[in-house]
Amino acid sequence: MTLSSIRKAPPCAFVLFGANGDLTHRLVFPALYNLAVQKLLPEGFAIIAVTRSEFGEREMRDHLRDGLKQFCKPPVDEKVANALLERVQTVVADASDPASFETLKKTLADADEKHDTHGNRIFYLAIPPKGFAPTVQALGKAGLTGENNGSYVRVIIEKPFGSDLASATKLNSELRAILKEDQIFRIDHYLGKETVQNILMLRFANGLFEPIWKREHIDHVQITVAESVTVGRRGAFYDETGALRDMVPNHLFQLLSLVAMEPPARLDAQSVRSEKARALDAIRQWTPEEALANSVRAQYVAGKIGDEQIADYRSEKDVAPNSTTETFVALRLAIDNWRWAGVPFYMRTGKALARRYTEVAIKFREAPISMFRGIDLDGLRSNYLVLQIAPDEGITLQFNAKTPGPNLAITRVAMDFKYSDFFDTPPATGYETLLFDCMIGDGMLYQRDDGVEAGWRAVEPFLRAWRQAGESGLALYRAGSTGPAEADALLARDHRRWRPTA
Ligand SMILES: NC(=O)c1ccc[n+]([C@@H]2O[C@H](COP(=O)([O-])OP(=O)(O)OC[C@H]3O[C@@H](n4cnc5c(N)ncnc54)[C@H](OP(=O)(O)O)[C@@H]3O)[C@@H](O)[C@H]2O)c1
Repeated sequence: MTLSSIRKAPPCAFVLFGANGDLTHRLVFPALYNLAVQKLLPEGFAIIAVTRSEFGEREMRDHLRDGLKQFCKPPVDEKVANALLERVQTVVADASDPASFETLKKTLADADEKHDTHGNRIFYLAIPPKGFAPTVQALGKAGLTGENNGSYVRVIIEKPFGSDLASATKLNSELRAILKEDQIFRIDHYLGKETVQNILMLRFANGLFEPIWKREHIDHVQITVAESVTVGRRGAFYDETGALRDMVPNHLFQLLSLVAMEPPARLDAQSVRSEKARALDAIRQWTPEEALANSVRAQYVAGKIGDEQIADYRSEKDVAPNSTTETFVALRLAIDNWRWAGVPFYMRTGKALARRYTEVAIKFREAPISMFRGIDLDGLRSNYLVLQIAPDEGITLQFNAKTPGPNLAITRVAMDFKYSDFFDTPPATGYETLLFDCMIGDGMLYQRDDGVEAGWRAVEPFLRAWRQAGESGLALYRAGSTGPAEADALLARDHRRWRPTA
């Protein structure tokens, strides 16, 4: 799972569906370039850029080069970029046209000859979700999904993976009708973030934390993924999806499951993903009344973020003027297992908030403070272990210390570890580790079918309860604020509060 380990990627052809799309342009092709800079691509390597539109070879290469200019750290190494672009071949293929997949098959056979790719293929579906199943079916029909003579075939599926439990289960069975589970790589780019992966190391490579990582010592856990951006150009997609579907079953649950999982027997894809799925499976299924009582959904109204004036969500481009889609969600979850019984997990995420940041905060139980009776305890604060994921990556431990001087007083202090103080990380889009892992066949940072379904199962009670409730219960918050007052009330009810956001 780390690029610095001595694993070497075997030769392969990398087939990029949606090659002229936004994701390829901004993230996937720049990630391939970053891997090339780090000499982590195999010698035998070909890129087949697939599009349904008529795209000339030259036009495609120019488009991909433009992505490098815009999204890679300058200056782009022209030699590396040219060598990579020389390996690009464009194929026009549409899942509804079997003949076009025969052309793709022929191009792949040629690439095996020309670039010595040994029959190994990665199909990256950087296309909208409605294209996932038809594309895999077309690959199957063209005989491109079988693994022959020791070669591999892997398919990377983008997010979102389904829009509820039923659609995710259906997509899983459509994919598994053609591919084996270990050929399917469901990507969630959150797992490409070093700090997210580091949660595993922090917990299991240190003797310090695990003994207190349980209900006897932890009061509660808070997970915050705050975005300061609005829906922008994604209005149509977002209005159909909402904050819960867009963020919770994937990104927030990745964080939750890494914090809540039991220690895996081995650091390998099967053990880690089994424990993560088990943690998600243990999330209590609320009744409709409980789901409403343990959730807050809200939509932003006009406000200011910095100097920028933000309009109501309902007046954003491609958003219905009477939309009831939530742009903010806060949940209170219970994990019904031995480790976490009685420890609430609070999570919140939203758009158009005061600032962008992502963190997991673990609040430890209070010390018995009776021995400090009669002294100034104003400064006494809870112990928090804060895992900062974005924008700064690091870990902070907050504790109380004596304020110097003859008076006995207490002040909260913190030990701060910042990644940037210790490590020089190479420029990255966040997709490099994931792509490299797929090339070496390590699925640990990808989602398995049971994990995806467990995630959807856990949010299903909220989806159902909100559908029934319609507009009633939809709170509002000002763009540029820290979210709705109702989210504060969710914790206040338990005599707790969110860590300050600014
Ligand atoms: N963009 C991001 O930042 C981002 C982040 C995370 C996840 N994702 C996910 O990544 C995928 C691609 O995102 P994107 O923003 O690049 O999407 P996009 O620009 O809307 O689509 C990518 C390309 O897919 C092709 N396409 C469209 N409909 C298709 C279909 N039904 N079957 C096959 N190909 C089709 C189109 O190219 P042709 O017409 O030329 O074939 C299009 O240029 C999506 O699933 C998205 O949810 C995107």
